[in-house]
This record gives sequence, C-alpha cells and structure tokens, in this order.
Amino acid sequence: MNFRDTLKINREGHLEIGGCDAVGLAKSFGTPLYVMDEKYIRDMCAAYRGVIEKEYGGRGLVLYASKAFSCLAIYKIAKEEGIGVDVVSGGELYTAIKAGFPADKIYMHGNNKLREELEYALDCGVGTIVVDSFNELDLLDGLAAARGKTQDILFRVNPGVEAHTHHFIQTAKTDSKFGFSLADGTAEKITAVALGKKNLRLRGYHCHIGSQIFEKESFRLAVGKMMAFMADMKAKFGFEADRLNLGGGYGIWYTDEDKKITPSGYAAYLETIISEVALRAKEYGLKEPFLLIEPGRSIVGEAGVTLYTVGAIKDIPGVKKYVAVDGGMFDNPRYALYQAKYTALLANRAAEKPEEVVSVAGKCCESGDIVCANVMLPKAETGDILAVLSTGAYNYSMASNYNRNRIPPVVLVKDGFAEYIVKPQSYEDLVRNDVIPERLQ
Ligand SMILES: Cc1ncc(COP(=O)(O)O)c(C=O)c1O
Repeated sequence: MNFRDTLKINREGHLEIGGCDAVGLAKSFGTPLYVMDEKYIRDMCAAYRGVIEKEYGGRGLVLYASKAFSCLAIYKIAKEEGIGVDVVSGGELYTAIKAGFPADKIYMHGNNKLREELEYALDCGVGTIVVDSFNELDLLDGLAAARGKTQDILFRVNPGVEAHTHHFIQTAKTDSKFGFSLADGTAEKITAVALGKKNLRLRGYHCHIGSQIFEKESFRLAVGKMMAFMADMKAKFGFEADRLNLGGGYGIWYTDEDKKITPSGYAAYLETIISEVALRAKEYGLKEPFLLIEPGRSIVGEAGVTLYTVGAIKDIPGVKKYVAVDGGMFDNPRYALYQAKYTALLANRAAEKPEEVVSVAGKCCESGDIVCANVMLPKAETGDILAVLSTGAYNYSMASNYNRNRIPPVVLVKDGFAEYIVKPQSYEDLVRNDVIPERLQ
C-alpha cells in the first residue's frame, strides 16, 4: 500500500497516524472517528505558500478552500500558516471569524449568496467577494453603498476548460450554475457593468475548472484562456485586472489508481501555473497579476483517516460479502453521491495481507449506504477496527444526521498526541432545536 510518511504500520502491526496508534485512538475516543493529521495539513500549506514566495516574489496568496473541511481549528491552522481562506456560506464565514481569521484574507464565493450573507460579509470586512451573477452585482453594490464602503470583487468566469482526473475538455458552451461564460460574452458584459459601479472595485477574475485533477496541462490551458480574456478587457475597456484566482482541484490519492503526490509534487503544479502566467503576461503585454489558488482537497484530503468498528458481516455466496461498520453515508456520503473510491484496511491487523474483496456498508436505512465498494481486506471479524484512508476532505464537511445518527467527532493528531477539534454529538444535541407545538402536547 502506498503510504505517506506520517501514516505507517507500527511494531504491533497497527496503523499509526501522526504518531498515534489507530487502535488506541479508537479505544480512547470511540468509533466512528475522524482523525486529522496536523503535520500533513501544515506541510501542504507550507509547500504551496513556499512556491508563491520563491517563484513569484510573494505576489500571491494561497487560499484554503474551507468547504473541504471546516471547523474552528482548521482556520487557526490556516492563519498560523500565513495563508488565506475561501468560504462559501455565512456559516463558513462565521466559523472563520469566530476562529479569529483575518477578514481581509477571506474570499467569499457562492452562486446564490443570500442578502444576509452579503451583509454579514460586508460588516465583517471580508477582503474580496467573488461575484457570480448579475443580481448579486447589483445587490452588493447597493449594500456597499448603504454602508459607505467600496468592496473589492472578482468575477467567477467559466473559461471553457473542464477537467476531472485524467481528462480535460475545452467547451464552447457552458452549462454550469456557476459564473460568467467567456464563450457567450457574459463575462465581458458583466465587466462593463461592474466598471460603472460606484461602490465596487473590480480587481480581476476567478475560475475553477474541476476537481481531482492530475493533468497539469489543464491548468496551463485555463491560464491561457483567462489571460487572453484579461488582455481583451484591457483593450476594450482599458481595465487591467490585477488579480487572477485559478481555483483549486488538485487531485489526491484515494486508491492506487490515483497518483501519489508529495507536498513538493503539488508545488510543481503551482510552478507550472506561475511559468504560464509569466509567459502569457509577456505575450499579452499585461502586468503579472497577484496570483491566487484555492486548494481544498489537496490540503486536507490525505490528512484524514476515518476509523470504524466492524459489526455485522454478511456473506452472500456468489454475490458479495458486506462488512458493516458503525458509520456510513452520514459521515461519508461520497460513495452514495458519486461512487467515490477509497482504500480501506484493518487498523488492528494492518500488517496482514488482504485476501478478499468486500464492500464496506454503513448502518443507514438505504441500500446505497456504502462507505466503499470492492476493497481488499484480510478476513474481517466483528470488532476489528476498519480504517478508510484519505477522508479528510468532503467527509466531515458533508456529514449529516441522517437516520438521527450522531456526526462523529474529529481528533487532530500530531507527534503522538490526539485532541478533539470537534467534540462528539450527544443524543440531546439531536433534539436541541426540535420543538413540539402546543397543539401536539
Ligand atoms: C470555487 C472553488 N474553489 C476551490 C475549490 C476546491 O477544490 P478542491 O477541493 O478540489 O481543491 C472548489 C471546489 O468545489 C471550488 O468550487
């Protein structure tokens, strides 16, 4: 198995994460349990930040896309690592602010930001709002005017490059609920409108071309399209964008079908982007813009491991063997959503050779409640601790209380120490906001 350096099998034959024995973690904190490796997260932040500093003279900012994993502690870590964050809702913004994250280093996204979210962003002093629609532009201008403010904005643009895993395509038509299309001229139209807004200062453009991308060429292509558009806007309106945000989407290792990239390998993606930006700036006679990237998954994804306890085992001869665990789609809906693939192992028997293919099922009342399908495991027994790797992104942040299951707690591990960063929910938490109207009493 392709392990990273803070994940290993210890002398007891147990999985170890950030110096903590996974079996010990399961005993101390119970299961299901999300475990996040602090060193991995910090190494990733530092790798991206280092490239901006060394290769681009510090004229840029790494924004952690906090939709991947949002809680108070992650914003503290991002702040300590000297990076910015992107948020996509009032709730993520509230969490960041509550953690003491500097508002000027927050970028706010969303295809349908609510009026109250925009008001909250303005009142917090959010540095930049990434505007996604004509309605939002007018609404934000009015709200900023009412506060006597001028708000920095970017536009989210669809450059006509769509990338996922090893494939990318160029599209002339854009079918997306996000952003303004280059192809149909709406990106140009909104630019013209924005330049007339008194309380908004257009700083540049944003794009996000997809997720789980391994192909550097797709980012290069996006840079080319975005900078050609910036040159066009300069020629047409005399407006020279001084910021370019190229989104996130860098792929991570889930199974051995994926590349295993080290933090310095991720840095190479950013180096490719930077050299393309420099090249295109020269070609189009533009100033090199302040550069932003928004990695989410690649910062926290491989930092996470979820631990479960094996319960029922159901062998359907000639069909399938199900190994059921005490979690499921309520802590990780990604298989149910899009058949996401994962690697699993038995944390208490991590040195044993896998010998059979099983599907790890959850405990929810849905036949689609699978944590991961067709994974190789040693013969699992009830009581084994099952670990699913690379669950740091879009697991806790997508968790729900479906079937009134409690969302598992999160512990942060480092150098053999483990502490809660999200405490366990109680049954009482589940009914906290429930109300029985008088007529039902
Ligand atoms: C606008 C934007 N930026 C950044 C990201 C983060 O992408 P990833 O977690 O794949 O790096 C997303 C993901 O959906 C996004 O929509």
